[in-house]
Amino acid sequence: MLHRLLLFVLCLAYANAAIWRFSELVPQIRQAITQIFVTNLTVIDSAESNRHADEHGRLQHQLQRSNGKWDSSHPRHRLLTALHGFCRYKERNLAETKKWRDWYKQIPKRQRSIVESSVHYTRKLNTVDHLFETNERVAHAIVDNGLRFYNISQTELDEFTQENEREGRATDKTSVSQAMKHFVRDWSAEGLDERQEAFPCVLNALANVSRAAHHPMRVLVPGAGIGRLAHDISGLGGFEVTMNEWSAYMNLAYRYVSELSVPDGVVFHPYIDWWSHHATTTDLQRPVSFPDQLADPLSVLSVEGDFTTVFAAETGKYDVIVTLFFIDTARNLVSYLENIHRLLRPGGRWINLGPLLYGSAPFLQLSLDEIVALSERIGFKFEETEATCGEITVTGTTIRGKEVAYARNGRGLSKNAYEAQFWQAKKPE
Ligand SMILES: C[S@@+](CC[C@H](N)C(=O)[O-])C[C@H]1O[C@@H](n2cnc3c(N)ncnc32)[C@H](O)[C@@H]1O
Repeated sequence: MLHRLLLFVLCLAYANAAIWRFSELVPQIRQAITQIFVTNLTVIDSAESNRHADEHGRLQHQLQRSNGKWDSSHPRHRLLTALHGFCRYKERNLAETKKWRDWYKQIPKRQRSIVESSVHYTRKLNTVDHLFETNERVAHAIVDNGLRFYNISQTELDEFTQENEREGRATDKTSVSQAMKHFVRDWSAEGLDERQEAFPCVLNALANVSRAAHHPMRVLVPGAGIGRLAHDISGLGGFEVTMNEWSAYMNLAYRYVSELSVPDGVVFHPYIDWWSHHATTTDLQRPVSFPDQLADPLSVLSVEGDFTTVFAAETGKYDVIVTLFFIDTARNLVSYLENIHRLLRPGGRWINLGPLLYGSAPFLQLSLDEIVALSERIGFKFEETEATCGEITVTGTTIRGKEVAYARNGRGLSKNAYEAQFWQAKKPE
């Protein structure tokens, strides 16, 4: 009898998952299904489904035009701007190669004919133009998925796009490119080496945390990019994982990748927009497929928005906060540290790995020893760290430095890496 009951519950779970994927196209159907399953059929992942339904409602509310002042910092405006950016992927990149063609024409005809007969430079330009069309299909799929997920009509996007273009506002080619290149770091086999440099220290620290399946530990990953670390943490089992990301470009890319249902089913050419540091033209033009592993969107909750404000109501909620290549994105680092401290429950832990690469007009730029002093003042107690995570960086601390790459072209001739700093700090009971 018990076996039969278990089998029945399992079948329901599978049916739930299958219908969920089927209903990817229509968020409202998804919400309705959540309610049916939550109220009538199974309690297995009802808490998780509720979390997702609640967040979906919050997101929809946040995106309403009437919610706050309508300007370029409104969440819907930022989302439409990012959608516009992905829409114009090909045009922006072809404008760039057009420039390269014009520059090439500056070479005297005699020299050009040597170049053509030896390396077929025009053919290379033509091939790359053609490959941008493959990439454009991915960019458009991101847009289509985004319109469905966020419940935005094509008409609204078209009107927004037309107005932007009438007023001469250019799209942000760099943010589009960075978000798409993140598929390599996070969701391709090619990114595995890079992930293997960064993830094990964090995952091992979490694997040692004692936890139980019926009472999962709550983990928050702010500045999560397109979410691989958050999903790998969830894969450890016994963690209820929430990721947070502010960039609408990253969020669109994440929503897209997390809805894919065929492993390695998408192919694109991530390196064609930058011709420096290539050993061969084949390397430059090579395809990369993703996702190397499917990301179950239900296993991780994605909360979109600014880390310093979007969790205002969640004081003391999390057991662990993991910051990966994140804390140096702060304009106000003190606010980040205070927010991490506030969101942790007493006894909770902060795990960090990343560089100190300050950007975007930071209000203050602290050295590592100053971050330690400030964090201790805010109330953190730094703990011992594994020797496998590098050498101690500053004598007298437990913080270790480890060479870690970020968004590297594994076959490129430039090896950009950071001495990323790893630490674990506790909020005392
Ligand atoms: C350097 S990236 C690292 C992404 C990811 N953790 C990884 O290692 O691949 C930093 C990320 O933090 C995000 N970010 C910056 N400020 C943020 C904020 N205030 N709240 C949430 N995310 C933020 C950026 O959009 C970006 O995706």
